[in-house]
Amino acid sequence: MTKKKPTVLVTRKLPPAVEARLARDYDARLNPDDRLYDADAVIELATGADAILPCHTERFPAEVIARLPESVRVIANFSVGVDHVDLAAAKARGLIVTNTPDVLSDATAEIAILLMLGAARRAGEGERLVRGAEWRDWSPTFMLGTQVTGKRFGIVGMGRVGQVAARRARGFDMTVHYHNRHRLAPEAERGAIFHASVEDLLPHCDVLSLHCPATSESIGLLNRARIALLPDGAIVVNTARGAVVDDAALIAALRSGKLAAAGLDVFNHEPAIDPAYRELANTFLLPHIGSATRETRDAMGFRALDNLDAVFAGREPGDRVA
Ligand code: 8YV
Repeated sequence: MTKKKPTVLVTRKLPPAVEARLARDYDARLNPDDRLYDADAVIELATGADAILPCHTERFPAEVIARLPESVRVIANFSVGVDHVDLAAAKARGLIVTNTPDVLSDATAEIAILLMLGAARRAGEGERLVRGAEWRDWSPTFMLGTQVTGKRFGIVGMGRVGQVAARRARGFDMTVHYHNRHRLAPEAERGAIFHASVEDLLPHCDVLSLHCPATSESIGLLNRARIALLPDGAIVVNTARGAVVDDAALIAALRSGKLAAAGLDVFNHEPAIDPAYRELANTFLLPHIGSATRETRDAMGFRALDNLDAVFAGREPGDRVA
């Protein structure tokens, strides 16, 4: 008799190669129409399932974890960020939780550099002019932006993505400064200058790029007082999580000219972002596409499946976070 395949609720439509592997190895409850499930739908659809493979679009606070069917043993996230899961509640219930680190570092660092350049060189404004047939003339003072070559690139959160972003920034001869909970070893630092606190780091950032996870310590980290510590005319880049930024403070600094520009891929309450971001000319905005490459989305799916395979083979999954 063949062994019954474990049942997995897959909350979103995943790339074809990932769904093919899911269908081969699991009794997969797929979502071909990519409907957005609310908590009640996730709980109902997970009835009798052994695992859930969600994205950051599904939230698992303590009250949802408490209502998950008893059969669910593992939440194998299709994401590196796990701020949508209450890890302490999951752990207390004996749920295994995994994420997908490493495989999206290159793609996300690419977007950080795109945001830096787009914000610094006013790419959004320029594109809108050309696309809207509103480009009328050229002059020596037309659309002047900020040159980033040779400037200081400051990083909050020197993890996997932060370290790749640092390497890319060095391609523009930028000096890298960073703050991280722990100082990196010299071979990982590669000459980057460590600052023991965010406050120490900020005055050294011509560009500030956020790469830390959203945790109780980092939520609202970029607030009014900290923005005041940035040099006048600095640029803020966020590919981490919207929650790391105090929107009102960032918007005020973009309005006043304290900051030259911001490049943002992630937002509080996305996609229902603060409308002021859309109205400001000095924002360069993307719809949370940090990891959105074909290569990376396949790799994220395979990594989530490697974690599930390990759990159901009785092994410790490589990327266990709870
Ligand atoms: C993903 C991300 O697209 O992995 C993350 O933490 O923010 C994104 O790159 C998304 O979370 C997939 O669920």
